Amino acid sequence: TKRVRTHHLREMKERGERFSMLTAYEQYAAATFDEAGIEVLLVGDSASNNVYGNETSLPVTVEELLPLTRAVSRSVRRALVVGDLPFGSYQASAEQAYLTAVRFMKEAGAHAVKLEGGVEMAPQIERLTQGGIPVMAHIGFTPQSEHTLGGYRVQGRGETGARVLADALAVQEAGAFAVVMEMVPGDIAGEITRRLRIPTIGIGAGAGCDGQVLVWQDAFGLRQGRMARFVKQYADVHAVLLQAARDYDADVKAGTFPGPEHTF
Ligand code: KIV
Ligand code: NA
Repeated sequence: TKRVRTHHLREMKERGERFSMLTAYEQYAAATFDEAGIEVLLVGDSASNNVYGNETSLPVTVEELLPLTRAVSRSVRRALVVGDLPFGSYQASAEQAYLTAVRFMKEAGAHAVKLEGGVEMAPQIERLTQGGIPVMAHIGFTPQSEHTLGGYRVQGRGETGARVLADALAVQEAGAFAVVMEMVPGDIAGEITRRLRIPTIGIGAGAGCDGQVLVWQDAFGLRQGRMARFVKQYADVHAVLLQAARDYDADVKAGTFPGPEHTF
């Protein structure tokens, strides 16, 4: 199996083929999604919520994300592994961004990094790509800026559509190899996708994007509770784990596990 490279995603866009991306934070999910043929695995800063139990992505640190990224990059044979730069680790300057991104590549084996922001992140994206680090941009609703954006809301409705397009063009010009668009109206995201040479990856941005991404704990039902409208439920992993844990617990308490076949 040939590794997925950034140029493959570009070529898929040129051929009109779609590709898929999922989050992954550890070995077994990563290896399973790789086996399934998912092109891109994102070690998202959403690990803040899904691994570390925080309420937002803001508290997670580089030190917390590096080991997860290393686990994922070790566990795939084909997928492109993208390390997500956490809040505060790249916004200060292009130099800060470069030094952080280098750690994801050198210490954790990431094949690329992702950062949030459009026009204002052009210096960071330029510095990274010139320094040999492929960059995936992330525009539209950017969770690290939820307190600036005023909560989880669709970006690019009405007049602000021009802003999202300007961000998309800016990250392309700065050298990003792809761009995630989060919670952008489908018609705007489709229009941007047609205007860009680089692939777009939608999350809550409609079917007009070149690729799609979801957080697997949401899409496959490990996490319970309220889901965003853009999440489709493909499985109920929580129910499977809950039942397995209850069955095990009952067996232990009844003395029916371990049986003779599990005993030396
Ligand atoms: O951290 C994350 O999971 C993400 C995706 C939702 C794009 O940034
Ligand atoms: Na993220």
